Amino acid sequence: MNLVNQQEKTFVLTTPLYYVNDVPHIGSAYTTIAADAIARFQRLLGNRVLLVTGTDEHGQKIQRSAANLAQPPQAFCDQIVPSFISLWSLLNIQYDRFSRTTAPNHQAIVQEFFQRVWENGDIYQGQQKGWYCVSCEEFKDERELLSGNLCPIHTTKPVEWRDEQNYFFRLSKYQTRLEEFYQSHPDFIQPISRRNEVLNFVSQGLQDFSISRVNLDWGFPVPIDPKHTLYVWFDALLGYVTALLEPDTEPTLDNALKTWWPINLHLIGKDILRFHAVYWPAMLISAGLSLPEKVFGHGFLTKDGQKMGKTLGNTLDPVDLVQRYGSDAVRYYFLKEIEFGKDGDFNEVRFIHVLNADLANDLGNLLNRSLNMVKKYFVDNTLAIAPCAIPSENPLRVTGSSLGERVKQAYCTLAFHEVCQSVLFLVQTSNKFIDEQAPWSLYKQGKLTELSIVLYAVIESVRLAAYLLSPIIPNLSSDIYQQLGWEINFNNQQQSFLLAPFSIHATWGVFSNKQKLGIASPVFKRIENHQNI
Ligand code: MSP
Repeated sequence: MNLVNQQEKTFVLTTPLYYVNDVPHIGSAYTTIAADAIARFQRLLGNRVLLVTGTDEHGQKIQRSAANLAQPPQAFCDQIVPSFISLWSLLNIQYDRFSRTTAPNHQAIVQEFFQRVWENGDIYQGQQKGWYCVSCEEFKDERELLSGNLCPIHTTKPVEWRDEQNYFFRLSKYQTRLEEFYQSHPDFIQPISRRNEVLNFVSQGLQDFSISRVNLDWGFPVPIDPKHTLYVWFDALLGYVTALLEPDTEPTLDNALKTWWPINLHLIGKDILRFHAVYWPAMLISAGLSLPEKVFGHGFLTKDGQKMGKTLGNTLDPVDLVQRYGSDAVRYYFLKEIEFGKDGDFNEVRFIHVLNADLANDLGNLLNRSLNMVKKYFVDNTLAIAPCAIPSENPLRVTGSSLGERVKQAYCTLAFHEVCQSVLFLVQTSNKFIDEQAPWSLYKQGKLTELSIVLYAVIESVRLAAYLLSPIIPNLSSDIYQQLGWEINFNNQQQSFLLAPFSIHATWGVFSNKQKLGIASPVFKRIENHQNI
């Protein structure tokens, strides 16, 4: 799988549009952190990137949450949305579009899309009977339910029986076309386990699904029959399309699809795979639109093996976590510790351990000790050595020379844990290299050329590590670059691409002997475990 399309230099990716039934929790933060790391990586490659996130504000779940607080739904949503925006800012997420499904331009897009599907003969009226999970906003098969009629995902919430007139989307008509599409686009659904899940589901035979609700006001009226309200998922998926409209353009499908369609990557959690990998492509085919390139379904953050979430109330407060440890720490931990695609349990002891070991000790100390040595051993605080003077068998050069390519592949396959592990390997090898080479005794013996070779190799390794991790820990990487003498801030998209493009800075030997090193100061302070957790 390669997410980089060399011909077309745009890259559009989306997070799910989050329900606003409550303030964001760590699960929503997880997807958004990953999306931001991908977007930053794509920007370093020089691609024009559009990162779409936003909120899903209609439907019964939101209506009930508002009613519980005796608030009108719109006012309720307006009150929750800022908590998402401020969390994204705390987590240093650089999104380009924030799509709200209650935005005025969204209804026009939904209507036009509905009209196309209607004209294609794919919508009809029928009777919907079944068990509905309001937390999932989805009908469940009886055999999926836990005993006591509980939803398998929201295990404390009983499903509700529904028997009502709904409009249906003719999903069954697209069975063969979808199967052909999955076959001809083997990378469409990632990781492979999710693809198999979808193929298995589809092979059991697709059933039409209802796209309207009665007895629910909070949503758009069905254009052909305003007594019905459009099903929240039909409306929400189209939020991705509305997000692509340039500001102040007329909300038409043509305008929305003009620049950024098709979407390269939908990043989602595994619970909403069916909507993105089955319903959504069928809806798009019906409306005559091309399909997204990829859907990646990541795993759940769990606590004691259960999905963390607002519904179960077993979540972790991301604001508190960032305020205590900083955005880079939180970003790094989740991307390094959990193989993207698999579930992962959060554990604060492990969290502190990983950050101290990797960022404070391995990376932070490496920078600190090497800068201090240059300062101590070379009067003008520079290394008078050219990159080509580093022997080709130098272990850091050997590892560093192939690292950029390896890390690029890992980013492209969303293997963030591999990105971190590969980079950390170079960092750990560098620490070992210092211990083995003992620069202090080279200095004592007056072997200044050997000494500068050792220190150059180490400093170049820290630089390369900081660069390759910059999509994940942008603040730390900026600090490291600045201490190495560059005026580069990786949070400045334009500047970092122009001054440090991937094609150059991801290679070995960029650090130059003209470089004036900055002042060493700890980039990541050890976290003291005062609470003994
Ligand atoms: N509103 C829909 C998405 C519509 S997209 C057009 C929705 N919203 S949600 O807020 O409930 O969930 C959003 C995302 O957060 C989903 O991808 C879901 O998998 C993810 N997560 C929610 N809890 C999670 C964890 N505990 N762990 C990881 N991700 C989790 O679904």
